[in-house]
Amino acid sequence: MSETIIRPAEPGDVPAVLRLQNDLFPGDPNALDEPAALETVEFRKKMLFVAGFEGQVVGFTLLKNRGVRPWTGIDFVGVAPAFAGLGIGRQLTAFSLFHVPRPIARLFVRPSNAPARALYKRLGFRQSSIRVGSYEDGEDALVLMKWLGPRFLRSPLPPD
Ligand SMILES: CC(C)(COP(=O)(O)OP(=O)(O)OC[C@H]1O[C@@H](n2cnc3c(N)ncnc32)[C@H](O)[C@@H]1OP(=O)(O)O)[C@@H](O)C(=O)NCCC(=O)NCCS
Repeated sequence: MSETIIRPAEPGDVPAVLRLQNDLFPGDPNALDEPAALETVEFRKKMLFVAGFEGQVVGFTLLKNRGVRPWTGIDFVGVAPAFAGLGIGRQLTAFSLFHVPRPIARLFVRPSNAPARALYKRLGFRQSSIRVGSYEDGEDALVLMKWLGPRFLRSPLPPD
């Protein structure tokens, strides 16, 4: 059985991440383009992590600090469908939580996305509110948060 490795993205991962992003989150307003992704891997404002499995990038997640807020946003958690159900989404999310520099992690999820909701619930996220009609197709977004407590800054992630 191959091992999944979760690690910061490198410039060479960007094409695979963009392919996954565009397949899994088509039309997402927070989508990265190539320059933004390359800038991101330099760890200035955002943190991009990838899951490597059998030598390929099969998942990714993006952390972002927006403005002066108590939370860090987890913008995407995505795993290629062929590799779903192997625990990779859980490892990606847990790794991200370890690196969140602010006291709260926040993310949005569709009420219809049962696998993602189950994953976040298992990792201790709680629903804080609903954003009505948040997605481009009109579906509401559940706003989930996880309280992490005071953090030691493990890596630089300054606000926008
Ligand atoms: C949601 C997603 C990230 C889960 O990744 P994954 O690698 O398949 O999930 P894991 O194998 O790590 O499973 C972790 C937990 O998620 C939940 N889960 C995963 N797949 C599930 C499914 N098909 N049905 C119900 N729960 C599921 C379970 O709670 C599971 O824990 P358990 O196996 O101990 O019960 C993945 O399906 C994905 O990328 N989906 C498309 C993009 C997306 O919707 N991302 C979330 C945006 S908010």
